[in-house]
Amino acid sequence: MNDDVARREVAPTPVDAFFAASEARSDRWRALEAAANVWAATKEKSAHGRVTQLVQELAPIEDYWSYPGPKLMQALKDALAGQDAADVARLVKKIGRSLLSNSYRHDASAWDEGENSAFQSGSALPPDANVDGVPKPSFDVLIVTTNDPAHWEEARQQIERLRRRDDPFKYHVVMVGSFEDAAIATVLNHTIQAVVIYDGFGFSSQNDAPLLQDHLSRYAKLDASVVKSGEPLGTRLAALIKNFRPELDIYLITDRSVEALAGTEEASAIRRIFFGIEEALEIHLSIMDGVSDRYRTPYFSNLVHYSQRPIGTFHALPVARGKSVFHSNWIRDMGEFYGTNIFLAESSATTGGLDSLLEPTGNIKAAQELAARAFGADRVYLATNGTSTSNKIVVQALCAPGDIIIVDRNCHKSHHYGFVLSGAQPIYVEAFPLTKYSMYGAVPLRTIKQALLTLKAEGKLDRVKLVDLTNCTFDGHMYNTHRLMEECLAIKPDLIFLWDEAWFGFARFSPLHRRRSAMGAARALAERYRSPAYRTEFEAQAAKLKGCAPDDPKLLDLRLLPDPDKVRIRVYQTNSTHKSMSAFRQGSMILVADEDFVEVEGTFQEAFLTHTSTSPNLQLLASLDVARRQMEFEGYELTMRMTGLSVELRNRVNAHPLISKYFRIASVADMIPEEYRESGLVDYGPPHSSWRDVVKAWDEDECALDPTRITLLCGDAGFDGSQFKALLAERFDIQINKTSRNSVLVQININNTRGDIAHLIKALVDLSREIDQRLAREGAPAGEMLKARVQSLTVDVPDLPNFSSFHDSFRDDPGSGTSEGHMREAFFRAYDEENCDYVKLNSPQMDERLKNGPPLISANFVIPYPPGFPIMVPGQVITSETITFMRKLDVKEIHGYQAARGVKVLKPERLSTPGTKTRR
Ligand SMILES: Cc1ncc(COP(=O)(O)O)c(C=O)c1O
Repeated sequence: MNDDVARREVAPTPVDAFFAASEARSDRWRALEAAANVWAATKEKSAHGRVTQLVQELAPIEDYWSYPGPKLMQALKDALAGQDAADVARLVKKIGRSLLSNSYRHDASAWDEGENSAFQSGSALPPDANVDGVPKPSFDVLIVTTNDPAHWEEARQQIERLRRRDDPFKYHVVMVGSFEDAAIATVLNHTIQAVVIYDGFGFSSQNDAPLLQDHLSRYAKLDASVVKSGEPLGTRLAALIKNFRPELDIYLITDRSVEALAGTEEASAIRRIFFGIEEALEIHLSIMDGVSDRYRTPYFSNLVHYSQRPIGTFHALPVARGKSVFHSNWIRDMGEFYGTNIFLAESSATTGGLDSLLEPTGNIKAAQELAARAFGADRVYLATNGTSTSNKIVVQALCAPGDIIIVDRNCHKSHHYGFVLSGAQPIYVEAFPLTKYSMYGAVPLRTIKQALLTLKAEGKLDRVKLVDLTNCTFDGHMYNTHRLMEECLAIKPDLIFLWDEAWFGFARFSPLHRRRSAMGAARALAERYRSPAYRTEFEAQAAKLKGCAPDDPKLLDLRLLPDPDKVRIRVYQTNSTHKSMSAFRQGSMILVADEDFVEVEGTFQEAFLTHTSTSPNLQLLASLDVARRQMEFEGYELTMRMTGLSVELRNRVNAHPLISKYFRIASVADMIPEEYRESGLVDYGPPHSSWRDVVKAWDEDECALDPTRITLLCGDAGFDGSQFKALLAERFDIQINKTSRNSVLVQININNTRGDIAHLIKALVDLSREIDQRLAREGAPAGEMLKARVQSLTVDVPDLPNFSSFHDSFRDDPGSGTSEGHMREAFFRAYDEENCDYVKLNSPQMDERLKNGPPLISANFVIPYPPGFPIMVPGQVITSETITFMRKLDVKEIHGYQAARGVKVLKPERLSTPGTKTRR
């Protein structure tokens, strides 16, 4: 075998190691192409064996995709059986390339055994590079049939003949004949958008493919016992598919009593039920209608339409229609850069079909309704000033002065400003610290329960409105939203939750992440509390806990259950759609699943108007509409792929002999202490865990790590986070997100590709090699210097300061066991400079006051970047831990602190006597 050919033959990764099975598939086609070339070049027996093995591995996978389909696969098998190496290589190349470029979707010649008419590679290019215009969107339809497989090809052709020239979309058909095969197909084939189920099929797969079955079991539990009952499996299959791909349209054709079935819960997953063999064209039209429903982008489409009309504008927005730009001598370059459409699509009007975000009645309302369906919420509000604004809206809508909020102190600053605006009193709860990396994780459930139980014991539970948490955190800590809400609701059944999912909006579309999302848990809990089995479970626990005092420590250890007759599901989620989906910057959404929303609808509206610009950006709103469309069609594929890529990156970096000398990606075990990781999962991917282990851990563990948030530790290479971030940007054109003292955060998103991963790995190899070479060249002194630097970055790290307390003058009942305080009052006190003082950070005066008083009381928020959470809030007593931390901070940005003036504090002598006023 010649070297060149040998190098190109790479062993494919086992299917089990892949997260997105479609990656396993393309990996195999690539390996097969290389192997087929080797066989064609060498005619060696071993090469033939390798090709045969790969074809055998691919054949069962290909049963679940429309392309290459049975005909081409048969041609390939025939060529292989006939020992025609050249033809095998040709066919493999043709199929592989068509798959890679997606040209089979538009090029009829890709489907026969001859050469393709033209190699189309333009689909990945931006639309303005595509001279032929945008082709019709196309997809696969899965047909679950009772027919004999011998007739499938004929049936497939018949169905495809129903397609019409003026259909808005094009589809190809995949046929399967069993429950297992249908389920596997919807897991494997992300291009499936509709499922047509002919009831009466069997249970077991035609393929004996344990790996595929295992793959399926990651997502869905199949109960073979239902087969024995002999009942039709159509509705069970629909429910199972809906569970992991809720966006799919499912149609059922059955000869059961369809009128009765249509009215049952059993049919809830089905879009339309047909009786017996009804008109096939109706099914075709229903498929088109279902896909059109998701494709519909009422706001975006109207904006496109609006931009094409010859409108004269006499309102305040000179750039609208572009005339102030295109007619200018001096700013034409702006027009050239942005192109015509952005100006044609600018308007300050809310009429002419453009609707008003402040009071939507037309296409914004429709866009919001579609978003609610897509994201699994009751309602969605589009927001145009980022999740910074969405958070303030929700806090203000739900909380009045005096209400208590239990909140993670590390929440984004918008929450804290929300408390100032609403006058709500925060009880700051602490997340577990990851001191080594200068960051926090998630707030332990026990801490939250303890806060609620203490409030209950003190008779303050009625004032607690909200539990406010970030999910996932910047660094990827995902709560067990299901368990956390359940246990809190057991203590206060009408508690409201605000989940800041700024980074996590995509989670709805990943069957794996969804279980950890606010909306996923809200749905699951609502369903759980309706079931008789839950009521029995609750009653048993209630009997055991009868007479138990609210401060009984056993309540902390018990998994508490809420009363199904009292519990209310009241969940709000905010997400920066622009952070994880294809929306323009600032595009955000507020998702609502609140059974009592009518009670707060008025204040919600008021809060929305408080914070929303009267000139919301139209492009931004349109991009939210389009981002929703994309996720409904491609969210499954994209979220699976990004998860797969992130696991690949983690394993490549940590297993690389050179890179791992200086850099490392923090593992699950590094990021989550054992006590919050009951499963014992240490990291993702082999050899650490199978995906089955991961699903189990994500179902059960208190805290889990989103693999797509990658903490890349750079301290061992002698770089602090900011330095390393700058280096990656300047030398390698790699932009990353946040930094900590000794790490940077690499985020894998829906836009990332294998090429991006390779780019980063290459940069890390280059840097590691340079360090190696420098150390070799400069000898022991350089080694000592690096050692000292590493020690300072990774060992001598400052302790993270906890929230201390509000000063007594901002507390109603200073002696009580709970810590809420009047932060708003402290905030506005500082407006009068007479009330304030400045104490230099490193001055003897600072040490003196810390030691002997009078107390130092923060006048404002002090937020260092990184880590980005407030180390002081207005009214907080400043402790020596906080000052020590600040003194050790070596970051450039500290919001709320001017080094030249010092730490701004409130003068204690100008504050009122503690507890003398009720300031609700
Ligand atoms: C947890 C969290 N919430 C909210 C925000 C604010 O989001 P936006 O940038 O969309 O205003 C951020 C920003 O980084 C964040 O990290």
